[in-house]
Amino acid sequence: MCGIVGYVGTRETIPILLDGLERLEYRGYDSAGIACIDPAEKNIRLFKAKGKIADLKSILNGFKSPARIGIGHTRWATHGVPSTINAHPHLGAKGRIAVVHNGIVENYRELKSELERKGIQFKSETDTEVIAQLIEYYDRGNLSKAVRRAAMRFEGYLAFVALSRDEPNYLVALKRSNPLVIGIGKGEHFVASDVSAILPYTKQVIYLDDEELVEVRAKEIQITNLKSQKKVTKKPCTIKWSIDQAQKGGYPDFMLKEIYEQPHVLQEILRKRISKSHQIEFDTLGQEASRHLKSAKKICFVSCGTAYHAGMVGQYMFEEFAHLSATAIVASEFRYSDPILGKGDLVILITQSGETADTLAALREAKEKGAFTLAVVNVVGSTIAREADAVVYTHAGSEIGVASTKAYTAQLMTLALLAFYTGKLRGKISRADFRRLILEAKEIPNQVKKTLEYAKGVNQVAKLLYQKRNFLYLGRGYNFPSALEGSLKLKEITYAHAHGYAAGEMKHGPIALIDDTQPVICLIPESKTYVKMLSNIEEIRAREGIVIAIATYGDRNIGRLSSHVVHIPSQREVFSPILTAIPLQILAYQIAVLNSRDVDKPRNLAKSVTVE
Ligand code: AGP
Repeated sequence: MCGIVGYVGTRETIPILLDGLERLEYRGYDSAGIACIDPAEKNIRLFKAKGKIADLKSILNGFKSPARIGIGHTRWATHGVPSTINAHPHLGAKGRIAVVHNGIVENYRELKSELERKGIQFKSETDTEVIAQLIEYYDRGNLSKAVRRAAMRFEGYLAFVALSRDEPNYLVALKRSNPLVIGIGKGEHFVASDVSAILPYTKQVIYLDDEELVEVRAKEIQITNLKSQKKVTKKPCTIKWSIDQAQKGGYPDFMLKEIYEQPHVLQEILRKRISKSHQIEFDTLGQEASRHLKSAKKICFVSCGTAYHAGMVGQYMFEEFAHLSATAIVASEFRYSDPILGKGDLVILITQSGETADTLAALREAKEKGAFTLAVVNVVGSTIAREADAVVYTHAGSEIGVASTKAYTAQLMTLALLAFYTGKLRGKISRADFRRLILEAKEIPNQVKKTLEYAKGVNQVAKLLYQKRNFLYLGRGYNFPSALEGSLKLKEITYAHAHGYAAGEMKHGPIALIDDTQPVICLIPESKTYVKMLSNIEEIRAREGIVIAIATYGDRNIGRLSSHVVHIPSQREVFSPILTAIPLQILAYQIAVLNSRDVDKPRNLAKSVTVE
């Protein structure tokens, strides 16, 4: 997620902007920049750097400016690779307007072509540049009016701040879905994506609400509703958090914050991927990739860890909806197995970081064998994203907790949409079914919210089990990978042993583990194998195992067989791994906390395994 800082006041602006950006580094970013207006020169000074704030500082090279107004930005790339030219702030063609932005302008393409038809030259590949260009195009000497007029045309989630060379005494900001706060100082005001950027200067903040436009001057701020232009009065609130707490949005750690971000992340993915006419769109998927999706004889999902579990779910999805033979394999096995692959085969590599060594090696192996490679990646411009023949981004935002949560459910949603898209391409899904799937997919963010509600009881389960040292996770069908993923979450943050198993395998060995000390987490949402799963649970109960069931709300059978039931809303099986992931993430988290583990940075683990 991008970071925004703005300042208007009586102090030197540049140090305040740089300091604020440094406090936003935790959000993850790939480039940074600042813009300020030098009162003497009446010009916008712009400094941008690919990489870190340290790189931006070396470009500034100690540059001092009497500027008392400016904006700064750390970019988490969504459109256009990380580069200096794509870094924010972006200027209008005449250099009169500068903008920093967090979010996505969904309709940037049509706005960009409209402006290009008027002869306006664009420099970057970003959607953000459209904001600066359109404001400048409308600007007739009143920045606030120009911003309002332009903002009425933007679609999508966005928060941005604009400044004008010709009116160097105020900033104008708009808040829509993505956060924006105003810091209230004495003779100075701040704008930021989150309070951590401005806490050293003020604890008095105003949280803007959607569709609010604010004029920020040194001595006053004015908030109005974008459309009605009605004045909005808001009382500042006093922040009691430390910087560290502020960076976590008030959560005790990044992992819990990211677990609770999942409804918003999934909502954003659906907004971006599903058009108004209920079609699925992958903006980065070219003709060639679609051709391969349509004609491939087989698909191989290759990835590691959590991403491998997503690949296993992807295998079920593509077989069910695209009627395409699919396999999932861990990258470290794939790369040394001399895979039987060739022209016409499709390899889908799934990776949050886009830098995992085994997955990168597998990509290169697959290309060498002549297969077409499609990467499903979270980090824009990462190595795997650049080297694959095609890429689809999961847009989960920066995931800081080492244990993957929102990136995983973002992968699952992206793979589901890709499977439906492929099924439609291959004529395997009727128009009616396709529309039904889209409507059901759009329900998922709310269902995840409901699941987070249902999961409030998980802390009772955690208190019951947190001293156990061995756990068994069982699932069938789409939720067999969920059992593996749930056991991985528990292993990596609690350091207890947890084993994920296909429930049908119980009688082939694992049932010997069952006694009255053995916790067994059973995934039993409504599905075509529900009855089979119920018998597995009966077998466990017959041996006095401790059954924790993740079941569909309203299930009347499971209560008598379980020590505890955690519910998920009723949902089509293909989406159930997204829902079952939630209580499993929270269970692992709660047990880790009860064992005083460092949930964000578990021992021995790295966020991106860039070595073999
Ligand atoms: C997941 O919680 C782990 N941190 C780890 O298994 C991770 O999924 C794996 O290393 C793959 O990483 P990638 O998605 O960045 O390729």
